[in-house]
Amino acid sequence: MSSFKLTLLILLTSLSSIYAWVHPGILHSAGDLKRMLSYVNAGRAGTPSNQYSDYLLLARDYLSSDTYGMSTPVTILTQRAAFERDGTAAYQNALMWYLTGDKSHANKSIAIMDSWSSTIKSVDPAYRDRQLASSLGPFMMTNAAEIIRYTDAGWTTTGIQNFEFMLTNVFYPRLNDHSGSQYEANVGSGNTKAMMAFGVFTQNQTMYNEAIDYYSNERCSGLPLDISPTGQASESGRDQQHVQLGLGNLAESCQIAAVQGTHDLYGLLSNRLLVGYEYTAKYNLGYTVPYDASFQRCSAHNIGGPFPTISTSGRGRFRPIYELAYAHYVSTKKLSMPYTSQIIQQVVTEVGSGVNSRADNSGWGTLKYRIL
Ligand SMILES: *[C@@H]1O[C@H](CO)[C@@H](O)[C@H](O)[C@H]1NC(C)=O
Ligand SMILES: *[C@@H]1O[C@H](CO)[C@@H](O)[C@H](O)[C@H]1NC(C)=O
Repeated sequence: MSSFKLTLLILLTSLSSIYAWVHPGILHSAGDLKRMLSYVNAGRAGTPSNQYSDYLLLARDYLSSDTYGMSTPVTILTQRAAFERDGTAAYQNALMWYLTGDKSHANKSIAIMDSWSSTIKSVDPAYRDRQLASSLGPFMMTNAAEIIRYTDAGWTTTGIQNFEFMLTNVFYPRLNDHSGSQYEANVGSGNTKAMMAFGVFTQNQTMYNEAIDYYSNERCSGLPLDISPTGQASESGRDQQHVQLGLGNLAESCQIAAVQGTHDLYGLLSNRLLVGYEYTAKYNLGYTVPYDASFQRCSAHNIGGPFPTISTSGRGRFRPIYELAYAHYVSTKKLSMPYTSQIIQQVVTEVGSGVNSRADNSGWGTLKYRIL
């Protein structure tokens, strides 16, 4: 091979591994936002839809309000609830800004993000939930940041830089810490989705690729560790809340990669995530599923396991995670998800995260993800 050809080959190989970042582009591309707006505009003009009904519920939620009273930011985070609420409020206000054009929503979102990013210095390394604190709420807030940054909302360069600094230097170090029994099951899949979102917002390909690798291979939260070939989740014996949280986390990671167009995570292991959704949907609808007691999460003993049978705890309390997977696998890929489909028909309008934490998954899937 001539040295010119060799140089060209090397150049092309390295170019092809540089992502053309899509912005806005964490959970929602510009096209996704436009689709939401089209349903909202049609609804305002008198054409009803489930998407529009869901929008009306979103608009009524206190976390979507431009008068939402945020918490007082702290320098060292030692609990997570307040940040999660603020992160969700920032995200919902960002969506409201896009869907109403009302600047007061953008301003509320920016005020929340700027107050936190100019104050927080660290997540306490001794805090038991340090990884959840660095993933769930920050993931929500990064979705807000992405929308605000790319929709002419008036966010200052200093605000954007502070936000990037916070992601890379406050939250990322906790997500990348594999010590102890962290980075497992739903905690690990939460870390992965947050790390992917941070990678997109900061355009850091190293960080993004690290997260992609965790999705596929992490030793206690990679896809094959989270969902067995039959669809059983590694926490199916623990309770249905954690199972659904984990499924939602995985789907959110898949969605980011789909929006970016870099990897088909949804399709990994012959659509393993679809199989996982269907298993859990079927069980939570009241049907019987097979249970293999040898398939357990890492460190199951730390949370009362290993579990000999599937858990009835939380059974039938559907978390807002189903629309996202359904939109991809059924509406886009034309695959079949009969049990997930039953849940969607029962729920009709998926709202934000429920009883345990507002910030567990992105929610409002009927408005955000439903295509047809
Ligand atoms: C939003 O914030 C900008 C900059 O601080 C301010 O000029 C503007 O009046 C605010 N708009 C609303 C509707 O609050
Ligand atoms: C990109 O992410 C890596 C971790 O994956 C981090 O070490 C590095 O500092 C980040 N780069 C920048 C410019 O922030």
